[in-house]
Amino acid sequence: MMNIKAYITENKDTLLNELLDILRIPSVSADPAYAKDVRRMAEVTREALEKAGADNTELIETDGFPIVFGEKIIDPNKKTILVYGHYDVQPADPIDLWDSPPFEPVIKSTTIHPEGAIFARGACDDKGQFFMHVKAFEYMMKTNSLPCNVKFIIEGEEEVGSVNLEGFLEKYKSKLSADVVLVSDTGILANDTPSITSGLRGLSYLEVEVMGPNRDLHSGLYGGSAPNPINILCEMIASLKDENQHITIPGFYDDVTELSAEERAEMAKAPFSEERFKQSIGIGAVEGERGYTPPERVSIRPTLDVNGIWGGYIGEGAKTVVASKAFAKISMRLVPNQKSETITKLFVDHFTRIAPPSVKVKVTPHHGGEAAVTPTDSLAYLAASKAMEETYGKKPIPVRSGGSIPIVAAFEAILGLKTVLMGFGLDSDAIHSPNEHYGVFNYLKGIETIPGFFKHFSE
Ligand code: BES
Ligand code: MN
Ligand code: MN
Repeated sequence: MMNIKAYITENKDTLLNELLDILRIPSVSADPAYAKDVRRMAEVTREALEKAGADNTELIETDGFPIVFGEKIIDPNKKTILVYGHYDVQPADPIDLWDSPPFEPVIKSTTIHPEGAIFARGACDDKGQFFMHVKAFEYMMKTNSLPCNVKFIIEGEEEVGSVNLEGFLEKYKSKLSADVVLVSDTGILANDTPSITSGLRGLSYLEVEVMGPNRDLHSGLYGGSAPNPINILCEMIASLKDENQHITIPGFYDDVTELSAEERAEMAKAPFSEERFKQSIGIGAVEGERGYTPPERVSIRPTLDVNGIWGGYIGEGAKTVVASKAFAKISMRLVPNQKSETITKLFVDHFTRIAPPSVKVKVTPHHGGEAAVTPTDSLAYLAASKAMEETYGKKPIPVRSGGSIPIVAAFEAILGLKTVLMGFGLDSDAIHSPNEHYGVFNYLKGIETIPGFFKHFSE
């Protein structure tokens, strides 16, 4: 039986080319213009699972994009791993900031990825990562070494909030019965510093509209006496944080789980260089809530960020105008024990209350999701840890991530299943940004590591 390392060396080009093929499909779930491509991507994913050796592959319809299912049951008495991933991707905008077209993948070497990285939208998030599971499964099938049962659910609406997934989990509870969920949709600290994600933040996302005068006004004739919705929106937003960057929404921190000094000391063991962090994103100084380190601010602390803001004249040249309306999209990242719904309500109430009488405010909630913490002493975690230690030659560190995968909390709430977040991306891979990429090393390392997880989890 050929071992996985030799298999990867021998099949490297095929493994890469097959990934490049699926990266050519622009499966952007947010934009209706790509709906056909998203569906084609679902079908291609199903075919890939079937070709790899999965049984009962199908597209399970939802009110949105279908969920790709496939399974291999070798023995009902053996354990079952439920693999989750997503085949949809974020919009590629702004397109002109890409060095190569987002859906024409190319492999180029970079400082961080000297052996090459695949540049394309979805390369890391999450096509390159879910596809590692398809390929690792294919290897185990070919070599007759699959040690337990496996089920796959690869969805197409993760990047738009997985709104149909909870209903799907409820409806297909028994079909999805398993012992653990395995997800590769997160990252590691560095290619020489493996880590396993031990938590994710939740999310509450809203859109606000501030309405002032009933029409755009001449800023000379009215400016200074008419309320300016853009000025007012900026003041309202500015007031959402105090001088310590503490969020001022009453009750916002009420449910936040505080970590003990020991837990924080444990976290601080993960390597972090403030200098390198600043350099990597080109900033002069770090920011954030007083009393917490930068890694803490993006993991164990909730935050509030404006994601977009617009209104008034934004065309060429100058136009002297007081706009009638101003808008912003605002998101809050939440931590364990905060409830997305509660926080959304607190925000709506507060934002409405702080509006001056000169304007009207409308707040529209978008999607949300709960935070999750995953155990670091479970059999499944230890299996992932052992598998990574074998392939990286170093024991992975547990790290709580700042990102969100709302479905992880739902796996626990609805299916009663814990999740292992064994991702292989790097923060610098530019997911959601122009020039997203995924290291060839990371892709192949993932394929190499996954069979180890299966093996150790089955023991
Ligand atoms: N894979 C990411 C989340 C992620 C990335 C977690 C890196 C940890 C490390 C996922 O596809 C994502 O982008 N999630 C969204 C939330 C979703 C509701 C749109 C996010 O975190 O903004
Ligand atoms: Mn993702
Ligand atoms: Mn994403």
